[in-house]
Amino acid sequence: MIPNQWYAILRSEDVKKKKPVGIRRFNKNLVVYRDTAGQVVCLADRCAHKGVPLSHGQQHGDYIACPYHGFQYDANGRCVHMPVLGKNGVVPKHMQVPSFTVREQHGLIWCWTGEQVPEQLPEVPMFKEFAEYTGFTSRYAWHAPTHYTRYVESVCEVYHVPFVHKGSALNIWDPKGGRVDDFSCHLEGHLIRSDFILRPDDDRTAEETLRARLPWTRGWRIGVDVQMPNMVQIRNDVFDVYLIATPIDDENCWLCICYKEPKRDLLFPMVKPLPIPGWRRVRPWLMCRMERFIQQSKDMAALRGQTPKISSLEANRLISVDKVNAYYLRLRDQLIQEAQAQAQSQVSAASAQRAANEQEAPPCEIKPIHILPHKPQAA
Ligand code: FES
Ligand SMILES: [Fe+2]
Repeated sequence: MIPNQWYAILRSEDVKKKKPVGIRRFNKNLVVYRDTAGQVVCLADRCAHKGVPLSHGQQHGDYIACPYHGFQYDANGRCVHMPVLGKNGVVPKHMQVPSFTVREQHGLIWCWTGEQVPEQLPEVPMFKEFAEYTGFTSRYAWHAPTHYTRYVESVCEVYHVPFVHKGSALNIWDPKGGRVDDFSCHLEGHLIRSDFILRPDDDRTAEETLRARLPWTRGWRIGVDVQMPNMVQIRNDVFDVYLIATPIDDENCWLCICYKEPKRDLLFPMVKPLPIPGWRRVRPWLMCRMERFIQQSKDMAALRGQTPKISSLEANRLISVDKVNAYYLRLRDQLIQEAQAQAQSQVSAASAQRAANEQEAPPCEIKPIHILPHKPQAA
C-alpha cells in the first residue's frame, strides 16, 4: 500500500444506516457505519477492552457499542460510556480505538491511509470523464485473491483481451486482434494517460480496421489511464469504465468497477442506444455484471499462480507497450519513498521532542498499568 493516499474502501450503498459493516483493508480490520446525520465513520474493528469486533455490536445514536460489555465509542474512537462504571463513571483516556479519516464522494467511501492527517488534505482522486458525467452509472464490487498491484497492471494493458477473455460468450464484442499500433503515453502529475489502436494483425491499415463494421474484424481505438494510487480507466467508442483495486492484505484485494451508460447499444454496438424506457439505467448495471463475470472467470484464471505476488519494476520484463505499467510501478515506488521520508522526519522530530522533555522531567520508575479503579456509584 502507498501511504498518504485516498483509497476507496466501499461503495456508498454498502453502508446503510444503523448497520455497522466489518471489512478488512490495508491488513487492518475496520468497522464502517453512518452516524445519525448520515456521515460515515471508520474505526479499528477491535474493542480496546478485550478485542471483540465492534462491527458485531450495535449503534446507539452516534455511538457504536461493543457486544461484549457494552462499551460505547464515538466517531473519534474515544470510549464515551462504560456501563460497568455506571452512567456517571469516568472513562479512562486510554480506552480508545484508532479512528480513520473518511470521505464520501463519487458514490464511494474513501479512507486516508496516512499516519498523519494533514490540515489540507488532497482531493479524492477521480477521472474527469466520470467526475463530470451526469448520466447513469453503476458500481459493482467484489474480492479477488490477488495482490492489488497485479490487478492494476492487468487492467493497465488490454492486449491480453484476445487471449484471456477468449471463449467467454460475454466477450462477443471484445477486440479480437492482439496487435497494438499508434501507442502513446504521457504523465499528468499522478495520472498516466495512454492511447492506442488494438486491431487484428492482417493486411489492412490501422485506419481501415477502425472503419470495419463487423465486430470480429474491427480495430478499436482505446485509451487506458491510471490514477494513482490504484485506479484504472478504459475509454473507447462503446463504453467508459474504471476499476479500483484496494489492498485487503498481501494476497487479496477489493475490486470495484464503475460503468457509465454505454455509448452504443450492447447487442448492436454499431447503432445508438435503443430508446426503451428504463433501459438507460439498466445498461451500466448490466455492463458491470458482465464485466465482473469475465474478470472472475477469465482474468483471475490467468493471474492465479503469478509470481511474485506483489508487482514491481524488477519483477517484470516490460516491453514498449507496457509503458503504462512501467509508469505506474515507478510512481508507486516514488510515492512510497516520499511517504517513508516524511514518516522518518516525523519520527526524528518526535524523538527530539521526547529527549527535550526527558531533560526537564525525571524518568518514571514504575511502568504504569491501566487497571480501572472500581468505584461503584453511591445509590
Ligand atoms: S470487549 Fe468490548 S466492552 Fe469488553
Ligand atoms: Fe481482462
